[in-house]
Amino acid sequence: MSNIIDGKAVSAQVKQRIKEETAKLKEQGIDIGLAVVIVGDDPASKVYVRNKKKACEEVGFNSYEYALPAETTEQELLDLVNKLNADDKVNGILVQLPLPKHLDDKVIINNILPEKDVDAFHPVNVGKIMIGDYNFLPCTPAGVMELIASTGTEIQGKECVVIGRSNIVGKPMAMLLLHKSGTVTICHSKTKNLKEVASRADILVAAVGKPKIITADYIKEGAVVIDVGMDRDENGKLCGDVDFENCKDKAGFITPVPGGVGPMTIAMLMQNTLTAAKVKNGLMDNTVEQEVDTKERTVFNKLFLHT
Ligand code: GUN
Repeated sequence: MSNIIDGKAVSAQVKQRIKEETAKLKEQGIDIGLAVVIVGDDPASKVYVRNKKKACEEVGFNSYEYALPAETTEQELLDLVNKLNADDKVNGILVQLPLPKHLDDKVIINNILPEKDVDAFHPVNVGKIMIGDYNFLPCTPAGVMELIASTGTEIQGKECVVIGRSNIVGKPMAMLLLHKSGTVTICHSKTKNLKEVASRADILVAAVGKPKIITADYIKEGAVVIDVGMDRDENGKLCGDVDFENCKDKAGFITPVPGGVGPMTIAMLMQNTLTAAKVKNGLMDNTVEQEVDTKERTVFNKLFLHT
């Protein structure tokens, strides 16, 4: 018996909460704006950008779309980023990735002001997530955390296995689970005995990018199984890293693809944009709560001895 986690329903709840807060801020004269920049005409990126624009409309944000030609130079893109950095109407800036090959993602991301970096890709924000002192949520991992919370599963003390070590998903995912006091293992392409490690997990997050590689023998009976994959099967049909049909009766909770993690990523992007506006207007100072209270500790303890 398993329960299917409905990402669309959970994301609708998150967006509803954001919409209500946005309406209250509007009453105080605060308008929220997200700028989305797309370079070139990658079809998948165009769909993502359209969905982001739609989500902005749903929650009551202004969205500013900048569609630049594939031949845009690095300087031209940097000029736009700098213009958006200086624009008071813009609370969040998102440059859709991947960029055309002649543009360096790193250079562009590093030039977005950290306080407008609603993807949480800037090294300053990545570092803040690492030390558990952050405003911006890494969108996909934060969406996964919401989905886990929706099952009522306690993370503290649980065996959590993350498969995948990307900077955008695997590494921040592990950090968020760790901040909630999970016992976290990160697996990757060189991991020996993946099946054995994965099947120890009470909470398994698959972010590998290989269609249906996680079958029932990789999961523990009753585990929470979260599938971050967006792959195509042998017939070109959208699927995840987890073989859903094969695993759904063994898992305690499982996300489908599509309709699981995907809708959550955009909801968390909206959350970050709201956060950026609140911080800018002095309505919020700092940091997501951690399971372990570090406030009482000395700086030395926090940095070096946190157990
Ligand atoms: N391309 C695919 N997903 C994302 C995302 O979350 N942020 C950005 N900037 N580009 C993406």
